[in-house]
Amino acid sequence: MATLLKKPAYRAHKDDVPLRRARPSAGTNDVPLSVQIVYGTETSMMFAERGAGYHTRPHRHDAEQFNYILGGEIWFFVDGFGYRCRAGDIMRIPRYKVHWAYVLEGGESARVIETHTLPLIGNHEEARKTSVPLLAPDEEPRFVVNEVIPTPPEEVAVVESRAFADPEGTASPGRPNYYVNLAKVTSRRTRPTTTPDSEFKTTQRIYGMDTSLLFADRDPGYHTHPHRHDCEQLNYILSGEIWFFVEDKAWRCRAGDIMRIPRGKVHWAWVKGNENSAVIESHAPPLPGNGPEARAAAAGLLAADEVLTDDRAARNERVDMSAAEVRRIETAAMAEEEAALGT
Ligand SMILES: [Fe+2]
Ligand SMILES: [Fe+2]
Repeated sequence: MATLLKKPAYRAHKDDVPLRRARPSAGTNDVPLSVQIVYGTETSMMFAERGAGYHTRPHRHDAEQFNYILGGEIWFFVDGFGYRCRAGDIMRIPRYKVHWAYVLEGGESARVIETHTLPLIGNHEEARKTSVPLLAPDEEPRFVVNEVIPTPPEEVAVVESRAFADPEGTASPGRPNYYVNLAKVTSRRTRPTTTPDSEFKTTQRIYGMDTSLLFADRDPGYHTHPHRHDCEQLNYILSGEIWFFVEDKAWRCRAGDIMRIPRGKVHWAWVKGNENSAVIESHAPPLPGNGPEARAAAAGLLAADEVLTDDRAARNERVDMSAAEVRRIETAAMAEEEAALGT
């Protein structure tokens, strides 16, 4: 009899991820940070809330960081420039650039979804323990750490006061294009490239050099053909229900679930119900879209001297599999998932 392989723990619900309240390791004061972190082998995803007055010291990490602001206001400082970020803004911190963050005193706390590529789940064992791995038993991530860069406070103050005097950055020539508001990112309504007979999705893409974000709203009946890409994918489900299939297993995902697709694994998605499903996805290395139209619509948060070349970007590759084979896998995998969920 065939042995059933144990299903990898690729999914967690945000409510089940421990909330850690801590003083940041690079902090200048005691304003706490509340975080929940999940991670794969190449990217971590952090849900963070920072109170008014939260202020970190200049630091860097061997990871590219994307911040998607859900609410409140937070300033990021990088390359000697400041960026005021509010709800809907997406801010990139390039790998290894010295940067810091500040939530002004007297303001609302800032709620942010952050990704780090490579995973950054805390400097100390204590912090790491509360982060949730979305890994198969044989997988080992490589973590990076926050490295504080001693900087005279006067230098920090000069950068900050210059930035506060020009919150939109309009009088700061040479400020790199590291942020965009989601409402300004071109939205495309398309069928998936690997599956031209599927229902539609509406997508917006943003990319850096190591990671991309995809905001996708998929219509009922959206169903992709098996495909793969040479990048890790983390999905955070905002609304609706969506089924993900990885190899011969299925995961039913709903709002608050975080689902990982490991690099190179054959996978596909299906919105089976009657409701749209909205998902934020990260891909590392970046997946800026296969065709020229998708690439042109994607927002690159790059400095003037950065170019995302084809050899650094991943692509969706359709996998040859018959419709009957897909149906057979789905039927068995969904039955197993439903039994596990008790539905
Ligand atoms: Fe950082
Ligand atoms: Fe994918």
